[in-house]
Amino acid sequence: MPRQVSKTAWKGCAAVVRRVNWSMMKAIQTAFFDAKPYDREMFEMVNRGYGIELKYFDDHLNADTVPIAAGADAICLFVNDAVPRKVAEALAAQGVRLIALRCAGYNNVDLKAVYQRIHVVHVPAYSPFAVAEHAAALLLTLNRKTHKAYSRTRDGNFSINGLMGFDLHGKTAGVVGMGKIGRVMSGILRGFGMRVLAFDPFPDAAFAQASGCTYTDLPTLYREADIITLHCPLTPDNVQMINAETIAQMKNGVVVINTGRGKLIDTRALIHGLKSCKIGAAGLDVYEEETDYFFEDRSSAVIGDDVLARLMTFPNVLITSHQAFFTREAMANIAQTTLGNIRAFFEQGELPHEICYRCGEAACLRKATGKCF
Ligand code: NAI
Repeated sequence: MPRQVSKTAWKGCAAVVRRVNWSMMKAIQTAFFDAKPYDREMFEMVNRGYGIELKYFDDHLNADTVPIAAGADAICLFVNDAVPRKVAEALAAQGVRLIALRCAGYNNVDLKAVYQRIHVVHVPAYSPFAVAEHAAALLLTLNRKTHKAYSRTRDGNFSINGLMGFDLHGKTAGVVGMGKIGRVMSGILRGFGMRVLAFDPFPDAAFAQASGCTYTDLPTLYREADIITLHCPLTPDNVQMINAETIAQMKNGVVVINTGRGKLIDTRALIHGLKSCKIGAAGLDVYEEETDYFFEDRSSAVIGDDVLARLMTFPNVLITSHQAFFTREAMANIAQTTLGNIRAFFEQGELPHEICYRCGEAACLRKATGKCF
């Protein structure tokens, strides 16, 4: 039976602790990076059923902070913790055996560098509804300008000048990446009465027939879509897939929504498209260089990133701080799956949600052995 963790045992173990005497502890020792108050609250609650030793640190994992993990069995990371080769080597030398990502995306880990050294697990799905609903919220806000209306009416300004939107009904949406989130999003968009074009390297004809969406190629999607929403992972092949060349292929006034990953968009090209009015609006939950800003309170600091600062000046750009996943249900699922992943690895030697750089390849060992190596 998993042990209960007493709250007092953890008092004082927060961010300032730099080195921890892990050897004094018996349970699975996990260094939890980039811990926010809402992470601690949810993980502490769910961990009552798992009894894993969690040490929370405010810091992001990077080459400077990697010593924090010395002696830990596992580390728990989020989207802006980075594991390039140098960090992977340091972690392996320190004896870390498992990287437990508490997110779906894994582009922040050099999977080749950790292969054969540290296993990597992630949370493949926690609530595709959370992310798709947020993408829809960005679209609706930008189109009907409710962000502006909110400020206006609170200020006693009841004018509707400049707030005109367009009917989504009858328009064409382009969904890039028809996985769990893309499929939920396509259902929402179909619910608005939109025609949905989808691009995915692995089209699913049965899903297309059942859902009423149409798989197509990217040039057609760019040419015909009134709104384009990105729901694919970031891979070496699609870095800055939205760039000057692809923006030029799009409809005038196209609305671009990105809840995928920031690097899917060349932000400078997006800004150019916004300035020329080629792009009608952009809803961004992710940003190319988000690491220094997103999830942090920078309200009393000067923004040193000129690209982000310029983006924030547009009235038709809505930026949210990588919060698409952030619902109660998703957070509970994330904690449950992450702690389950850690315990399964150390107690049963199982890796139900392992990933490696060969996933999907014919040579993938996981199909045969259940593990990536
Ligand atoms: P999934 O794995 O279920 O689906 C991804 C789909 O994208 C698959 O069907 C795959 O075939 C397709 N795909 C792969 N490469 C592609 C490419 N180059 N072009 C178009 N499609 C491609 O993943 P899921 O759960 O739907 O998540 C998608 C992405 O959303 C994640 O990789 C992550 O980057 C992002 N995400 C963002 C969150 C946020 O809070 N903003 C939260 C969760 C995920």
